[in-house]
Amino acid sequence: MRKIYLVGFMGCGKSAIGRRLSYFLKMPYYDMDHEIVRQQGMSIPEIFEQYGEAHFRKIETEFLKNFRDEACIISTGGGVAVNGENRKIMRKTGLVFFLDAKFEDIYMRIRNDKNRPIVQIKTEQELEELYHSRRKAYRDASHIQVLTVGRSLRQIVEYIAFQVNRLKGE
Ligand code: S3P
Repeated sequence: MRKIYLVGFMGCGKSAIGRRLSYFLKMPYYDMDHEIVRQQGMSIPEIFEQYGEAHFRKIETEFLKNFRDEACIISTGGGVAVNGENRKIMRKTGLVFFLDAKFEDIYMRIRNDKNRPIVQIKTEQELEELYHSRRKAYRDASHIQVLTVGRSLRQIVEYIAFQVNRLKGE
């Protein structure tokens, strides 16, 4: 059975949408960051601080390689789709949705988040550059791009569920 992956920049709504989609489609839901924190027994900022970002990226790839073979919904961390190997694994094992949001909306949500080390070390302008530089990777990773601007969570969830049902047999 195939997985449903949600990819996109930090603060684009992957977790909020994943939880609601799980309820709507009656499929289990996993937040990749939470699972990594649980496995490692450390917070994301602690992993970055003690072992560095490169190590965190390896943990992400290991997670994708080894995660249980189960039809489920997974919200990925914002950097996951940047890696080509990760994109390959996700596309092979599931359907990938890119949640596309405006940088201004994203920035309002993430600007004060102490649990996101990338936000802590970058200026607003640097974050905006990162946002633009990652868009191609999100598009390449995904089967479907979901425009979230001006849509309610409910509308987004219903749209993804519709696409999941449409693409089920393929
Ligand atoms: C990251 C995004 C975070 C988390 C880590 C790095 C990134 O996940 O994996 O802080 O590089 O964009 P969210 O997208 O869930 O915030």
